[in-house]
Amino acid sequence: MSENPAKLSLSNFLASEGRDPLQAPPSFTRWMQAGAWAVELYEPELLATADARTTITYNGKPRSVINLCSYNYLGLANHPEVIAAAHAALTTHGLGACGSPMLSGMTDLHRELERKIAKFLGREDAILFNSGFGGALGTISGLLRKTDVAVLDNRSHLSLRDGATLSRCRSEKFEHNDPASLEASLGRHKGKRQLVVIEGIYSMDGDFGNLEALIAVAESHGASVFIDEAHSTLACGEHGRGAAEKFGVEDRLPMTYGTFSKAFGALGGFVAGSKETLQYLRFYAHPYVYSCALPAVVVAAILKALEIGTSQPELRTKLWENADYFHQQLRGLGIDTGSSTTYVMPIVIGDRERMYRLGHELRSRGLWVAPVDYPAVPQDRICFRACVTAMHTRADLDEALNILEDTLVPGLVAQNA
Ligand SMILES: Cc1ncc(COP(=O)(O)O)c(C=O)c1O
Repeated sequence: MSENPAKLSLSNFLASEGRDPLQAPPSFTRWMQAGAWAVELYEPELLATADARTTITYNGKPRSVINLCSYNYLGLANHPEVIAAAHAALTTHGLGACGSPMLSGMTDLHRELERKIAKFLGREDAILFNSGFGGALGTISGLLRKTDVAVLDNRSHLSLRDGATLSRCRSEKFEHNDPASLEASLGRHKGKRQLVVIEGIYSMDGDFGNLEALIAVAESHGASVFIDEAHSTLACGEHGRGAAEKFGVEDRLPMTYGTFSKAFGALGGFVAGSKETLQYLRFYAHPYVYSCALPAVVVAAILKALEIGTSQPELRTKLWENADYFHQQLRGLGIDTGSSTTYVMPIVIGDRERMYRLGHELRSRGLWVAPVDYPAVPQDRICFRACVTAMHTRADLDEALNILEDTLVPGLVAQNA
């Protein structure tokens, strides 16, 4: 491939190249080498907790940074009581679960968490998965069949899209959050079983799912709706029950899926719903049946995180105050945050090379944001993603804003001149 490396993206290396699938395509390796300076921004080593200020490696050395990169929305990943709960379970239950939950990996702590998650969300039962990704993939692929249709928002997370692919059902997309587009998609497959797949908060755009309107369209077609509340469970809604609680639509959704890797500050996923459906799903979700259960250490930590997250609503209040403040200040600086109205905010740059150059500058000045490149977002929406948490102080946010102003704003002024 002799194209300008700056014009290529991950989508250019999906054709098979060479004779051996166990060898990386040589063109990809050359592309990586040419862009090594940009790739350096990925996989930095975190040398401490995912706190509001932390230390990562940069240029081979420890660098203190303001952390706008972690999903530790309520600060529970490093909460002393959460850590103590994990320590206690390590003593009583050891490290690994050493088996699938079906056979030997289920513990009393797993059962307790299933019950408590179900109660928290007002559902009959819950299933735990050892990853959020596996939970979404397993639930969608475990429930949909070849003759069904998955109707996904075009910004759906890959775990949901991969779940639909694995089920071998037909997949349809609709324009992000657009009821008219959903209407048209559903209309194309009248008479089939259809499942509309939406999210509470979209992980790249940081906007809410258009729940009310989309659910109404689905209902008018007799289609069920599956909601991914990965970024919203525990962090959104008066009691933390996610975007569905915030918008008053919980009763219209038969099931809730979420992850423990974000506001819970841990790892894993769950789905909560009716006893009968979950009993069926337990036998058909491959990532549940054929993969080791979450370690009890993690389950005990999640139990404590759930207790704190549900008994201390002030954490959510602080998170939203911080998000609102940061949004307001970014807007004041003329920085494009797209349609975000939450604690997940894209900082749109639009040009790949500029984004990576600025990414280095931000990191060297002590601000840690995530680079987000095409195809994760459209080419003209290449951005940084910033996540604000309840743990950020006003001083952390102001310092981050100063760094963003010094780094990004001169370019914006030049662009607009
Ligand atoms: C919307 C959404 N669903 C599912 C997942 C997968 O969750 P996990 O990272 O816990 O595997 C993510 C991860 O970021 C996500 O953003």
